[in-house]
Amino acid sequence: MADNTLIPVAAEFAAEAHIDAAAYERLYQWSLDDPEGFWREQAKAIDWIRPPTRIKETSFAPDDVHIRWFADGTLNASVNCLDRHLATKADKPAILWEGDDPGESRTVTWRELHDKVNRLANALKALGVGKGDFVTVYLPVIPEVLVAMLACIRIGAVHSVVFSGFSSEALAGRVADCRAKVLITADEGHRGGRRLPLKRQADAALESIAHKVDHVVVVRRSGAPVPFTPGRDQWYEEITEAADPVCPPVEMSAEDPLFILYTSGSTGKPKGLVHTTGGYLVHVATSWKNIFDYKDGEVHWCTADVGWVTAHSYKIYGPVLNGATIVMFEGVPTWPDTSRWWSIIEKLKVNIFYTAPTAIRALMRDGEAPVRKHDLSSLRVLGSVGEPINPDAWLWYHRVIGGGRCPIVDNYWQTETGAVMLVPLPGATPLKPGAAAKPYFGIRPVLFDAAGQAVTGAGTGNLCFADSWPAQARTILRDHQRFVQTYFAPYPGHFFSGDGAKRDEDGYYWIAGRVDDVINVSGHRLGTVELESAIGSHPAVAESAVVGFPHEIKGQGVFAYVTLKAEFAETDLLRQEIVAWVRKSIGPIATPDVIQWAHALPKNRAGKILRRILTKIAANDFENFGDVTTLAEPEVVGDIVERRRQAIGRR
Ligand code: WT7
Repeated sequence: MADNTLIPVAAEFAAEAHIDAAAYERLYQWSLDDPEGFWREQAKAIDWIRPPTRIKETSFAPDDVHIRWFADGTLNASVNCLDRHLATKADKPAILWEGDDPGESRTVTWRELHDKVNRLANALKALGVGKGDFVTVYLPVIPEVLVAMLACIRIGAVHSVVFSGFSSEALAGRVADCRAKVLITADEGHRGGRRLPLKRQADAALESIAHKVDHVVVVRRSGAPVPFTPGRDQWYEEITEAADPVCPPVEMSAEDPLFILYTSGSTGKPKGLVHTTGGYLVHVATSWKNIFDYKDGEVHWCTADVGWVTAHSYKIYGPVLNGATIVMFEGVPTWPDTSRWWSIIEKLKVNIFYTAPTAIRALMRDGEAPVRKHDLSSLRVLGSVGEPINPDAWLWYHRVIGGGRCPIVDNYWQTETGAVMLVPLPGATPLKPGAAAKPYFGIRPVLFDAAGQAVTGAGTGNLCFADSWPAQARTILRDHQRFVQTYFAPYPGHFFSGDGAKRDEDGYYWIAGRVDDVINVSGHRLGTVELESAIGSHPAVAESAVVGFPHEIKGQGVFAYVTLKAEFAETDLLRQEIVAWVRKSIGPIATPDVIQWAHALPKNRAGKILRRILTKIAANDFENFGDVTTLAEPEVVGDIVERRRQAIGRR
């Protein structure tokens, strides 16, 4: 697929779209020339208690990084998500929920959602939660996860949602880091016909840390008997039933934290990125509507799990702020069979469908038959996010799922950016399969080449952003220094994304992937150092190095080079044990795909592992190692190459 395949915007689509090509040019230019004026106007999408007069106060200077938007405005986020829709939508569906079991579904109207949120907010207050307190949410994709998030923000508490596929160890670190006052979980999760022991994992997590939560709120999902600590543990159903159904919203200032979300970085410790209220809501509400060209009454389905930023911004906050009906699906696309997603689209008449390339690639393998069984004619716009989408998958998604008529909005952004950075707006931007296309309003991408020079015109480099945008994370919880060092020190005056990118002759951006020690597995970010410390904690392991390698379905897979302690033998059994060990210490998403034994790892004379070489070998590239003169023991590389050659020869 050549880079310059251009799929034009259909005239009928553009005619009805919120933003057509001319509007994109005009608004983009305005947002650069006059960011204050542009965002002051955008801020009208939100109901303020006291409208902001101070719009943008930001600095990316390395010695003074600060980011404030709408600083003197006050508001309550839950009122924007709920109360303001009641007058027109009270009895319309807010959530269409599909259980893992195809026989199970629920509809939650706006009135019901409002009632549930108010009750839980009051119940949390009764448990001692107040403004500025942290609440960790460890729930499957059930309506209660949305209730929990909105209940927190109604009373000014800060939610930290942790992916329910994370292990108890991963959960423990995240509860301790934010010193959560309350943990909200469920007895069990349901996934692909199996049960996840969430309460048991939560208990194990809480036992393993010095920090003590005051309470654990337990949603009864499966009804299975679970351990229960009287006094500390509370049944969600009991405390919400007993609670008053009216909870006055707390007036928050725009820069009060709304939520934190942990993500992997280049060190072993996950970063708790802090998102604040006003800027985040303005940017997410307006960008969601524009990138999916949402029309009132449409049904939106983002397949991401609630534990990721994709779900925070564009499954939950974006649609809910706009009063859209959202689909929540508890299960997996392959259970009971590979037509499950398509059957849900047909059943719920989904209009906007938003998923990740890894899922498309996996479902593509099954061919078109599972799709053809279902009527997908309700679809109007498709989205892709999380990793670069290869043109093959893009074209299949466009033709088979979208029937050739739905634009695909490939949106590029990050936990740190909070909202979209690069995207083709569906009524404005001709599509190039595989390109994240053009900057969103207010976004100024800059590419820096290897010499540290900004690239002009077409070229490649490290992707940075030259000025602030409202949904940007403000800091890392309790570690502002790390925030500054990670994102603002590499290219002074700029935010550094950690990604490499290309800009083509038409000004379209193509994301090449991470250039730091982060790998992207099925659209999920994993720090290689985090994986190495999990592997290294196994008693048989002396040392390890983890790199990503090209994987047909996952995009990147996890490749671990492992050196054992002298007294351990390199057996397949030990390999399986290490794989199980990593799954237990991080979660199934971190499962190593390949473990290769190594007598030693290639290091420079300072003892630093040369991952560049290991990445090449993992990709079966046994030559272009670049400069190898810094290697302390050059023969180590030959040995690793030899073993790799043998391993692929054997398969
Ligand atoms: C990393 C951020 C909100 C996105 C969900 C993941 C990669 C994200 C794209 C895209 C190519 C993408 C980048 C980025 N990424 N979207 N459309 N095309 N790459 O959020 O966990 O913070 O990961 O995902 O590498 O840095 P995240």
